Amino acid sequence: MFAPNLITTMITAKSLAEFQSARKSLEDKVVGFVPTMGALHEGHASLIRRAVSECGAVVVSDFVNPTQFNNKTDFDTYPRVLERDCAFVESLGAAVLFAPSVEDIYPAGTDYNKKVFDLGGLDQYGEGPRRPGHFNGMAQVVTRLFDIVRPAKAYFGEKDFQQLAIIEYFVKDLGYPIEIVRCPIARAEDGLALSSRNNLLTPAQRSAAPHIYRSILKAKEMAGSIPVNEAIRTITSLIDSEPLLRTEYVEIINSLTLRPVTDWNEAEHLRLTCAVYAGQVRLIDNIDLK
Ligand code: PAF
Repeated sequence: MFAPNLITTMITAKSLAEFQSARKSLEDKVVGFVPTMGALHEGHASLIRRAVSECGAVVVSDFVNPTQFNNKTDFDTYPRVLERDCAFVESLGAAVLFAPSVEDIYPAGTDYNKKVFDLGGLDQYGEGPRRPGHFNGMAQVVTRLFDIVRPAKAYFGEKDFQQLAIIEYFVKDLGYPIEIVRCPIARAEDGLALSSRNNLLTPAQRSAAPHIYRSILKAKEMAGSIPVNEAIRTITSLIDSEPLLRTEYVEIINSLTLRPVTDWNEAEHLRLTCAVYAGQVRLIDNIDLK
């Protein structure tokens, strides 16, 4: 059957120049974009499949962005498996995989926080104070990639809930003509939110990690029946009752402003967010409460 939008041979662009030449061949198409840091898994696949179904051509970027890591060990140990990623992205029907060098993205160097972005104050809470500079570095790379890729739509997962809210803010603030598509969290069968960092877990940590999701789900039963701070304390102790897990924070936030709430009626939409260590591996998760 004739399928005009089906692109069978993916282009792998390993430099800016290669990407720019590939981008020319997409001028007449609605371009969808899935930015990633590689080590792709089913969570990314769900974003790529959705983009392929909604757009004329899909670009996936694979770039471990040095400016968004506030911890050097985390950057150094972040999994890098470009050859495997290429085959995976091609099998999903993307048109171009863009794997640039650091020099391509930061021609003037990677001076931390050189360019300061207005993040609408959404970086004041949650991950913001715990990972200083992270969201500014993320905004730096995402805006640079948007300028290079020039997509009509860009796809992001709700696992990084705060990142998504911040991207929506600066896309509007800077006037990018890009539709940001929110995609639900992809989970393993046992409930663990899919993440490239899961590759770094030992088998014992991997078995313990689904306890995070099981614990935070309990917040749905607690909502409205016990005080917010008591629910947070109970869920924290529940997570920490698994010896291989150590909670960094559990927060219940206003889903729009991201500000932590102290009362269930303080906002129309609430979300529980958390960060938990399994050994040195930092895992984040979140669920919608109302
Ligand atoms: O979510 C991620 O993987 C990264 O933060 C992103 C959006 C690709 C920017 O480096």
